[in-house]
Amino acid sequence: MKQLAILISGRGSNMKAIAEACQNGVLKGVANVRIVISNNLKAKGLETARAMNIPTAAIASKDKSRLEFDRALLRFLKEIDVDYIILAGFMRRLTKEFTDAYPQRIINIHPADTRQHRGLGAYEWAWENQLPDTKITVHYVNDKIDDGQIIAQANVDLNGVQSLAEVEARGLKVEHQFFAQALKTIFEN
Ligand code: GRF
Repeated sequence: MKQLAILISGRGSNMKAIAEACQNGVLKGVANVRIVISNNLKAKGLETARAMNIPTAAIASKDKSRLEFDRALLRFLKEIDVDYIILAGFMRRLTKEFTDAYPQRIINIHPADTRQHRGLGAYEWAWENQLPDTKITVHYVNDKIDDGQIIAQANVDLNGVQSLAEVEARGLKVEHQFFAQALKTIFEN
């Protein structure tokens, strides 16, 4: 079983979908959420994880430099045995020092084709450009924003959407199913 640390900053709906997949879905017997870590002490996802009996930790990034935060996170992670670090709505760029410590072991989900749109506001971008579809990208993480090697992509049909909220709802529905499925493929290969 692959042991996962999931890093979040907020809502944590992708974290929840992965944790559910580990407990009772496509990742059952394949992976286990060892811990959920947030850089934001108030992240709603921390409560969600606790309600699912998953260990949580918060390491505040506020008032820390990028390197200070990453070193604190590294020190913490060294104490627990994890195979993969999963970024699920983790809103920080990581330093090279951090990403070099886990080569091909840090995986992120981004709600657009990372060759077309990186950073915040991916669903807004799809909505404002009236795209007929968009892509969800699961990729390895390097020290640049949404830049690492693409592992898998899933299409989101946006035909007929009437609002940004609808774009997000359709996208998240795909994210929640696709992230766990993509991780399963990675872990089994
Ligand atoms: C998701 O759209 C994810 O793709 C992006 O940030 C959002 C996080 O949502 N990286 P949640 O915290 O998983 O609900």
